[in-house]
Amino acid sequence: MLGFENQFLCHVTNIRTLASVGKIMTTKEELSSEITAVGDRIRNMKLEKASKEALQPHIDQLVTLKKKLDEIIVAESKKEFDRTKLETVLRRRFFYAPAFDIYGGVSGLYDYGPPGCALQANILQLWRSHFILEEQMLEVDTTILTPYDVLHTSGHVDRFTDLMVKDKGNGNLYRADHLLENWLSAQIKDVKTDAKLKEEYSYVMTQVDNYDAKELGDILRKYNVKAPESGNDISEPEPFNLMFKTQIGPAEHDSKGRGFMRPETAQGQFTNFKKLYEYNNERMPFASAQIGKSFRNEISPRAGLLRVREFTMAEIEHYVHPNKKDHPRFREVENVIMSFLPASEQEKGVSSTIDMTIGEAVRSGMVNNETLGYFLARISLFLIKIGIKKERLRFRQHMSNEMAHYASDCWDAEIQSSYGWIECVGCADRSAYDLSNHTKRTGERLVAREKLDTPIQKNVIKPQFNKKEIGVIVDEIENMNECELKELKKSLETNQRAKVAGFEVSSDMVSIVETVETCYVDEYIPSVIEPSFGIGRIMYSLLEHSYYVRENDENRCVLSFPPVVAPVKCLVVPLSGHPSFPPFIYELCQLLRSKDISFQKDDSSSSVGKRYARNDEIGIPFGITVDFQTVKDKTVTLRERDSMSQVRIHMDQVANIVASLANATLSWNKVTETFPAFVEQEIDN
Ligand code: ATP
Ligand code: GLY
Repeated sequence: MLGFENQFLCHVTNIRTLASVGKIMTTKEELSSEITAVGDRIRNMKLEKASKEALQPHIDQLVTLKKKLDEIIVAESKKEFDRTKLETVLRRRFFYAPAFDIYGGVSGLYDYGPPGCALQANILQLWRSHFILEEQMLEVDTTILTPYDVLHTSGHVDRFTDLMVKDKGNGNLYRADHLLENWLSAQIKDVKTDAKLKEEYSYVMTQVDNYDAKELGDILRKYNVKAPESGNDISEPEPFNLMFKTQIGPAEHDSKGRGFMRPETAQGQFTNFKKLYEYNNERMPFASAQIGKSFRNEISPRAGLLRVREFTMAEIEHYVHPNKKDHPRFREVENVIMSFLPASEQEKGVSSTIDMTIGEAVRSGMVNNETLGYFLARISLFLIKIGIKKERLRFRQHMSNEMAHYASDCWDAEIQSSYGWIECVGCADRSAYDLSNHTKRTGERLVAREKLDTPIQKNVIKPQFNKKEIGVIVDEIENMNECELKELKKSLETNQRAKVAGFEVSSDMVSIVETVETCYVDEYIPSVIEPSFGIGRIMYSLLEHSYYVRENDENRCVLSFPPVVAPVKCLVVPLSGHPSFPPFIYELCQLLRSKDISFQKDDSSSSVGKRYARNDEIGIPFGITVDFQTVKDKTVTLRERDSMSQVRIHMDQVANIVASLANATLSWNKVTETFPAFVEQEIDN
């Protein structure tokens, strides 16, 4: 069924081609520069219209180089990265912690403490400026409690499910795809597993997201996968709906009050489409956006913030003409280079990425249209701006079976952490799915209209009623889309009757006519491109990417956030408890307040070095020390977290300088060029 042999042949061929490339490269730097060189070579060959055959060996070479680089990066992150140590810091400094832990906690629920809160707020502030302000998006804040009807119409009641299996002995529940992934990865890691089987397992691993319930059941049975804790047999996979049910209003059995906690912020935006379109002076295209909580009753939430039951989402719904998906600002991003893993490669069992510019990706048809491409590039720029490492970011296209029920195409921004490659942003083309379903259900036409300079002839299909006869289902038929009308027409013409919403209608009640009309206005249901960000997943990935331990001192942990997102921008430290310092500290704090700079004062009795180290742990990028020299000439030292270098600077200037450093309009290099270096005080005693 899975064509393993073909996959293996492909793989072997690739290895041979690569072996012929010859040169052995061992370091990350060598590999990266070779990847850039081969990428450039391929780009130039494409510009010169080289044949597919001529290009193929270079593409194969690129694939292998990238695979090698990935292996080194993974190995390095495993070697250097100690998750337990990071988690200890995060817990101790209260970035976040399990909610209600004094009651034993509830899995999948977390509370954020002060640095976690500030980090999230800064990421969201940057998100607002990078997306909402940049594109004049229309921000909304819609309710979380959502009636049954809305989520039934959107397809979530019937299809927002994950596949679940049960431990037949103790009833424990597992997400079926995760169970298979964990089992496969244990087999792949196991030295005792036969090499050929390892290849097979690696291939199956690339397909897990693509399996439906039956395929997943077949594979779990084939490999005799058991419940991990008990070793008991497991049941067949069955769908479990992830939405939290609730009752809106006091009457417990009032079916009108049935509802859910929203699983995405999108539906609140779609149901307000008409008002937003009018607010936008009926201009297309445009986007709405929303930041808020969503809720999913995950089957077995593990992996900390990466899989929780309540989380902050930031979602954009960009409304566009279904046949005009070019983007006026695409030129601005077309040279952004990104790593792609298209569905066609995954379906062959390939998991290495292809680097190319978004311009090339759209021109080659790999990314379907400019609007989708524009947002993928903007997502990439945003993630890198907040501190996600470029080499640990990739864009993976969904395979056909993997797509959410509403999507016609979808690319995930996946970030690599110690948990593997994790989807942190989904960017889906939802086509007209939601707006047409809500139109059909409510009768409210969620459409856009564009006046045509030149009228067009359009084929139209519409019902003609004998209203006396037909009664209640007029609305139902009037809200049918073109396809449904065509089907109804066919049925009425062949059988003289058809079923509509459970009622039988006959050809004397309604006839469906097809005509050609001259249109002066193009009326259409917009397509929607939707970038959907999970802020908790991004934040956790950023914590891993920012974390390091100072060389030669494994107890000094640093979170090297870019200053724009750092939870606290500046540390204020008096050299000691000497009574001459407090007035200067007071004045310094006032100066920082006046510039809106978040700061923390550490006047404990530890050494300056220890105090800096303690605050490196929460990622404070800059530190100011007041010392005896300050008392003489009002100069202070300003220290940068990662280099630990310091300059001497006058108190009157320091707040302005820190403000510019914090909003990234000034670099630390420039500061060290401008102000004299200071070389004492870091001593840790
Ligand atoms: P997964 O396959 O990992 O369950 P998903 O495909 O269901 O994720 P989407 O429905 O695309 O995720 O949700 C959009 C974004 O919301 C994701 O990219 C992710 O960042 C975030 N997200 C989804 N589910 C969770 C969760 N349980 N905990 C934290 N963030 C989540
Ligand atoms: N709104 C996109 C999602 O929930 O996946």
